Amino acid sequence: MILEILGEGIIKMTELLKIENLYVKIDEKEILHGLNLQINSGEVHAVMGRNGSGKSTFSNTLMGHPAYKISSGQISFDKKAINDLKPNDRAKLGLFLGFQYPLSIPGVTVANFLRQANKALKGDSVSPRDFRKLLYEKMDDLEIEHAFATRYVNDGFSGGEKKRMEILQMAMLEPRLAILDEPDSGLDIDSLKLVAESINKYKQKNPLVAILLVTHYQRILDYIKPDKVHVFIDGNIVESGGPELALELEKKGYDWLTGKEAIKA
Ligand SMILES: Nc1ncnc2c1ncn2[C@@H]1O[C@H](COP(=O)(O)OP(=O)(O)O)[C@@H](O)[C@H]1O
Ligand SMILES: [Mg+2]
Repeated sequence: MILEILGEGIIKMTELLKIENLYVKIDEKEILHGLNLQINSGEVHAVMGRNGSGKSTFSNTLMGHPAYKISSGQISFDKKAINDLKPNDRAKLGLFLGFQYPLSIPGVTVANFLRQANKALKGDSVSPRDFRKLLYEKMDDLEIEHAFATRYVNDGFSGGEKKRMEILQMAMLEPRLAILDEPDSGLDIDSLKLVAESINKYKQKNPLVAILLVTHYQRILDYIKPDKVHVFIDGNIVESGGPELALELEKKGYDWLTGKEAIKA
């Protein structure tokens, strides 16, 4: 059971992702210094912090990027340790990472890429016609022209188009935990709204999905209401709070938190 109905329509969300005392190194340099965080199904958590504070390291580590080594600590999903799972096995459990810097894949069309990814994850046998119908529906939501289906993944896409491609992948693959690494970076205000609306739409259709939204601007949080906001400084979470924390950061910047002690539990 992932949720319990407590009567009177109150739904208690239960633990989906738990991070305990997580230390992560890259090339022998320690980047994350003992993070603790729990995300329940249905929750939206924002991770904020300056450039270089470790947000992408955190996102990539959760997905199992091989360059990031966990030196101690545990990542659990559905109460099972996933530290040793490969990215594709994490994806099968329902984790998804939308990249900060999506790569292009010349030679592979968007339609083929998504169809293969969908098959690999869900093992389903949707007919090509049904798949196309679904893909076009999701593309329409994101105002991505259907012609993009036959273009090579991210090849020659603008910054905004790449970000919308990441969200299109999310909408097609239907994860239970979507980690979105700066889905707002480099977007003009119209693209930002589209991206935010599609994330919200996905959330409305899938109320139990959890979202870890990494950003360094408050702006996207005007559209996507977080339940919790966590602030990263130098590889530590130094402050956690509600949506008001993001507004405070918008006003005061990050300086007032520099040197603050890490939250360790
Ligand atoms: N491949 C790497 N080798 C060494 N240091 C790295 C590497 N990748 C990231 N770092 C360092 O890790 C820190 C955190 O980076 P990152 O996780 O990308 O931060 P953010 O996403 O918050 O901007 C930075 O100091 C960065 O220089
Ligand atoms: Mg980053």
